[in-house]
Amino acid sequence: MKKGFVFDLDGVITDTAKFHYLAWKDLADEIGIEIDLKFNEQLKGISRMDSLERILAYGNKSDAFTTEQKEALAEKKNTHYVELLQDLTPDDLLPGVQEFLNDAKAQNVPCAIASASKNAPFILEKLGVQDAFDAIVDPATLTKGKPDPEIFVRAAEAINITPAEAVGFEDAQAGLDGIKAAGMYAVGVYSGEELHGADLIVHHLTDISVAELLQK
Ligand code: BG6
Ligand code: MG
Repeated sequence: MKKGFVFDLDGVITDTAKFHYLAWKDLADEIGIEIDLKFNEQLKGISRMDSLERILAYGNKSDAFTTEQKEALAEKKNTHYVELLQDLTPDDLLPGVQEFLNDAKAQNVPCAIASASKNAPFILEKLGVQDAFDAIVDPATLTKGKPDPEIFVRAAEAINITPAEAVGFEDAQAGLDGIKAAGMYAVGVYSGEELHGADLIVHHLTDISVAELLQK
């Protein structure tokens, strides 16, 4: 029997991956590194600074910038990303999300957000679903990012359940690995890339019900 849900944000609740990609691509272009959509898959679920480090390593420029310069580059990407988020509305929720969250609320099933994004509270507000969540883990307080299970363990704690009592939702391999390492039941939300190790794969939240998952 499961007692609560832990959601990744980007790619599960809404599709912000395209905005992350646009903002990183612009920045990468500026510093002479060419990235494409295939490379972008590696950035899903990874923190802002880790994403920048991966881009720099990809372009053989890991040592080309000081720590301060790297912070400025990450900040620049974020400013652009936040600009792109301004037009988000509840229409940008992925299919089935609103209904699933309503159903969880109606059945008093607690929900938490386990996202690497420091913009999560802003995005949830734009989507109009901030009240659907009982907790949002602050990624700034974590010692390790996904695929480490820390963020998922903390999310379960925040809604007063054990990881074994939680169902976790993820669209990225790093996140799914973290959910499984935490000992949760893992639902992979398929976004075009193969996912390994999920207990169940769905295309959208319309494919499953709250009642069905609580039985897992
Ligand atoms: C994750 C995204 O949810 O958040 C990553 O999948 C992103 O692509 C990370 O880098 C950090 O986001 P932000 O908004 O703090 O830069
Ligand atoms: Mg994601």
